[in-house]
Amino acid sequence: MERTCYNSDLSLDNVGQKVSLVGWVAKKRNLGSLVFIDLRDRSGIIQLTVQEGVEIPDIRNEYVISVQGKVAKKDVPNKNLKTGDIEVIVSKIEVLSKAKPTPMIIADETDALEDLRLKYRYLDLRRPSLQSNLIKRAKIVSIAHDYFDKNGFIEVETPCLTLSTPEGARDYIVPSRISHGAFYALPQSPQLFKQLLMIGGMERYYQIARCFRDEDLRQDRQPEFTQIDLEMSFLDQDQILSIMEGFLKRVFKECVGYELKTPLRRMDYAEAVDVYGSDKPDTRFELHLKDVTKILKQGDFNAYKDVETIKALVIPGEAVNTSRKVIDSLTLEAKKFGFGGIGVFKVLDSGVESSLLKFFKEETIQEFVKAVDAKTNDLVLVLAGKHDQTCFALGALRSQYARKLGLIKPNTYDLLWVVNFPLFEKDIHDGSYKALHHPFTRPTPETAKYLDSDPSKVLSAAYDIVINGYEAGGGSLRIYDQDMQNNVFNILGFSNEDIVRKFGYFVKAFEYGTPPHGGIAFGLERLSMIICGTDNIRDVIAFPKNLRAACPMSSAPQPVDEAQLEDLGIEIKKE
Ligand code: AMO
Repeated sequence: MERTCYNSDLSLDNVGQKVSLVGWVAKKRNLGSLVFIDLRDRSGIIQLTVQEGVEIPDIRNEYVISVQGKVAKKDVPNKNLKTGDIEVIVSKIEVLSKAKPTPMIIADETDALEDLRLKYRYLDLRRPSLQSNLIKRAKIVSIAHDYFDKNGFIEVETPCLTLSTPEGARDYIVPSRISHGAFYALPQSPQLFKQLLMIGGMERYYQIARCFRDEDLRQDRQPEFTQIDLEMSFLDQDQILSIMEGFLKRVFKECVGYELKTPLRRMDYAEAVDVYGSDKPDTRFELHLKDVTKILKQGDFNAYKDVETIKALVIPGEAVNTSRKVIDSLTLEAKKFGFGGIGVFKVLDSGVESSLLKFFKEETIQEFVKAVDAKTNDLVLVLAGKHDQTCFALGALRSQYARKLGLIKPNTYDLLWVVNFPLFEKDIHDGSYKALHHPFTRPTPETAKYLDSDPSKVLSAAYDIVINGYEAGGGSLRIYDQDMQNNVFNILGFSNEDIVRKFGYFVKAFEYGTPPHGGIAFGLERLSMIICGTDNIRDVIAFPKNLRAACPMSSAPQPVDEAQLEDLGIEIKKE
């Protein structure tokens, strides 16, 4: 017997037709003379009706069955099903495979905890929402193949057993059996290989690349994830961004029917931090940070006297909702960010209320309220300290309040490029420099002159695509001049020996004719999360790790046999 179609292919147009269907039993109801079965396949659920006289084998939930029957119009349509106008009157039914009672309910509304769902992921995957997420993710990949193939990009695979790639996380390492004591690193990204492909003359490369990073996990981070990774030669920044916008346009149009207006807005990193308190600003709502350094320095509050920046965040209508308990939790939050406390000002009918009022003249408070444009019943939160740190901490509160106050409309999208990042990040403790993006990022032509005199002033030709407050991708133009690359390595504190040991093969390649080049990598999971409307990265990965970087289904990671360790020349230290 051959399956004639998927469940959801059927509609009123097929009434009277004979069909053969297969799938899982989602539900069975026995009404004596009639038996109703909800049959689930990848496309959805359809109701089967088995009338008296048809032989029914023992059937339970999640049994795999095949049926033959005729499509009929339902007397009372079921509005909750895509196929709710019809049913299949079954003439023959056969069990293909039995199932034990499942440890969780297989439906979108499940109360199973996530670890149980991950342990039985193959059952969890039968839930329609997860299936739909994986289908949308596959759609993005398929658009990537089509779009980049059509735009002259060549798909090239790069090694997974390689040397460390400097993306800023810890490496996952793989011991070599042949060379005891030597290790491969799994790639944090294909960065070095894709640049070598440019030196190798490929001109336009892309890859759906697996990446591995051993870092603290979050709702939008996994230890192994996928990038839509690209590199291209002889193009400037505008040309690169325009090609990427063409790709995003197709993704949003074909996956969620959203018409993207291009060219996308560009925002300097400095503005993103200053106004939104984030390098990935969620611009779907306002709540802008306001600078009040000059005004609040006028008072006698010592904590505000010698700071670099004082910033305020106005939360509309929250003055009366802000109890002592809320203020205590805000203070705790501020302390977690390394601040002594947080200034809390309530603008009430009766005037401004704050434990800090005693430090300021009435006029200063009035000037402050006016400068931040606070209205009656608004709450104003104030933090003071180093500029970026202050902005980032208030930015985190900005996002929390936006969620709490429901300021973000569902199914809305806002995309922008964040550009002109600093090339280096200065460590506030030891003053050393780290690459904000990675060490191969090109300085902007206007600021490259500061490389020797004041590296903190150098901006980079880097760009991040930010969607709804997520960094969905990032890239840059690369250095293609050997002297400049060595100079940057030196500023980053790599000695010449370090350079040779870590990137010798890479730097050497630059001696043989390097085209100007640049690229970008989109986080496939982040893009999928946005397209699927979830804030949990595990919802768009078939077999994800939990927050402890473990797989509850396979129980990876696990110890290995002694013999395997011996082969590798490895001994495990006893705790
Ligand atoms: P970057 O490190 O910014 O750049 O990574 C690019 C994009 O990959 C996604 N991403 C992640 N997604 C899930 N889990 C993670 N742990 C994770 N880490 C990163 C993000 C991010 O924007 N080689 C450069 C790209 C380039 O310069 O071309 C790179 O990897 O969406």
